[in-house]
Amino acid sequence: MDKLIKDIGEVFKDDEINTEDIRRILSNYKSNPLDWKKYAHFDAHKYTRNLVDEGNGKYNMLILCWGPGMASSIHDHTNSHCFVKVLDGSLTETLYDWPNEGEKDVPLNKKKESTYGVNEVTYMSDEIGLHRMENPSHSDGCVTLHLYIPAYDTCKIFDERTGRNSKSVVTFYTKYGQKVDYNGSKTGRVIPQSEIDSQVVRSPFSFV
Ligand SMILES: [Fe+2]
Repeated sequence: MDKLIKDIGEVFKDDEINTEDIRRILSNYKSNPLDWKKYAHFDAHKYTRNLVDEGNGKYNMLILCWGPGMASSIHDHTNSHCFVKVLDGSLTETLYDWPNEGEKDVPLNKKKESTYGVNEVTYMSDEIGLHRMENPSHSDGCVTLHLYIPAYDTCKIFDERTGRNSKSVVTFYTKYGQKVDYNGSKTGRVIPQSEIDSQVVRSPFSFV
């Protein structure tokens, strides 16, 4: 994981970022649970977003953990580029068109559904449209690595039946492997190690 973080960081040392370089580095990395299990924290009720690296303010690297059947809302990407690599299990992506301007209460147009397996990489941006991501398995967890370039704090989530959207604030379940508590704080408080084991639900799934 450290090497992956370093290799990605190297790409961002240049002013011009080549997205193909990022795709190549992510594709070349072969998932090893020993590398990333420190960041893989599951919750019983919702998929989790775990911060791995803040990329010198240029991007965010995250690990998302999806319990069986868990899904995101349909969302946009706030003008960011987004890469996703599957580290464990599989992930289904459903692509939608943006709602037409001026149209009200019209269902979103579903245009494509793809399922990605371990080590596969996909790319998403507002130019492509909107998407929802989901762990299609009823029994296994799914772990994915995400790069958001640049990072963002809010995005829009969309209602599939009406195309209406609302603002959603993006939060982290853990930062650098430590649980974050948002109670009474906008940026979140990192919980000391001693409190973690009682609060974080460790993966109920094996990574082998
Ligand atoms: Fe997304």
